[in-house]
Amino acid sequence: MIQDLQLSGGDGPVYRRLADAIAARIASGVLSVGDRLPPQREIAQSLGINVTTVTRAFSTLQERGLIDARPGRGMLVAEQKSDGGSGFISAPSDEAGVVDLSINRPATDAYLDAFTALLPRLAKNRHYAAIQDYHPAEGPVWARSAVAEWLKPVAGDGDPGRVVLTIGAQHALDCVLSAVAQKGDVILADEVTYQGINALCRSHGIELRGLAMDKGGLRPDAFEAACAQWRPRAIFLVPSLHNPTTITLTEERRRDIVEIARRHNVLIIEDDVYRPLLDNPPPSFASIEPELTVYIGGFSKCVAPGLRFGFVIGPRFMMGQVAAALRINCWSVNPMAALIATVLLEEGTANGIIEAQKHELSQRQLILTEMLGGFDLQTDSTSTHAWLRLPEPWRGAGFARTCLQRGVGVLPGDAFAVGREPVQHGVRINIGAARSREDLRRALKTMRELLEAGHLQIPGFV
Ligand SMILES: Cc1ncc(COP(=O)(O)O)c(C=O)c1O
Repeated sequence: MIQDLQLSGGDGPVYRRLADAIAARIASGVLSVGDRLPPQREIAQSLGINVTTVTRAFSTLQERGLIDARPGRGMLVAEQKSDGGSGFISAPSDEAGVVDLSINRPATDAYLDAFTALLPRLAKNRHYAAIQDYHPAEGPVWARSAVAEWLKPVAGDGDPGRVVLTIGAQHALDCVLSAVAQKGDVILADEVTYQGINALCRSHGIELRGLAMDKGGLRPDAFEAACAQWRPRAIFLVPSLHNPTTITLTEERRRDIVEIARRHNVLIIEDDVYRPLLDNPPPSFASIEPELTVYIGGFSKCVAPGLRFGFVIGPRFMMGQVAAALRINCWSVNPMAALIATVLLEEGTANGIIEAQKHELSQRQLILTEMLGGFDLQTDSTSTHAWLRLPEPWRGAGFARTCLQRGVGVLPGDAFAVGREPVQHGVRINIGAARSREDLRRALKTMRELLEAGHLQIPGFV
């Protein structure tokens, strides 16, 4: 049954390879519902690995709903339940056989390892007692100081009084919109951009208008014309490793945009969540024009999305409003997340994790180039994602659908469109999302075959 169990091949962490090997046995019927898995110690011994690794593999399988703990009986293979149409859309997909490249997340378990090492020491931390209390809306000052110090050269001059902590960057964006815009206001953005802004503007009653882009990103002439036409309150930009196109605005283009924003008194909302992944990022908008820029960042793309840690750094006069908005929707961030982030920042571990992410991403980018380099690919050597402009006759949605039928999840350009104007026929590929380099290579191979075939030559196409 499981006596001859071997780790699945590949370069992923051992616990995940073990989980995958057991999952494969369940999928193939070698293990069936109600079968008992051997004790963790036994598996560890026979594979020559740590018991904690087996524990982690078991937790992963429990999360996937494949096994259940039964008191007195150990771990049993669980009955496969469909979720009964609960109405939740969960991502990333853990569906067997699907390599989900539709979610933008970091590529390694470096955070998990760092957190596991940190956990036994956490109770000794000088701020530990703070985890049981309420805190000011802007978050505990020691955590804001750690963020302010980390981002000193980028935004806020190291002043914790200009930092508000949030539950991730999407939450930051929500609080910023509440603070700076009103129903009926116009906000500008790239014609394709991070989808989260679309949904937020809709729920705030804000009109979001898309602006033309070229290969360098937002076109300043389009911004200038939109300022004259719509008198926008703000412009939303993802200037470093833009989502979904990966474009990083050059310093020159940033300065052109700032000059227009100054003349028309337009606030710049700088969503810079991907900046830590860049080797030599250009100066931020927040450093070029601190009085007109609200800077948003977070750990999701460079450390781990599960920590749900983000922040806003802006002009002092605005931060009270941002904190007031945050107080209304969640009172303040979870101090546990703030404490973990603070320790990672103060001990330099956050930077170490970022370096590990960049290294893994650079290796995956090489695979991407090897597999799809012959197509019109826009990317960057340490980006979590890439933008593929599709060759004729493919359109974004059709290509994404066909990829999914072959077990690969990607998002089409339409998903990022602001408004209903036609957008480039492209898809975003999240190379960080694959569980291993091998999975990534396999998924990219499938995509390459489709691109080479052209959809009309695929059997069964209707
Ligand atoms: C540009 C941008 N901003 C914000 C977010 C949301 O980040 P968080 O997980 O911190 O809420 C994303 C996630 O894809 C993003 O791409």
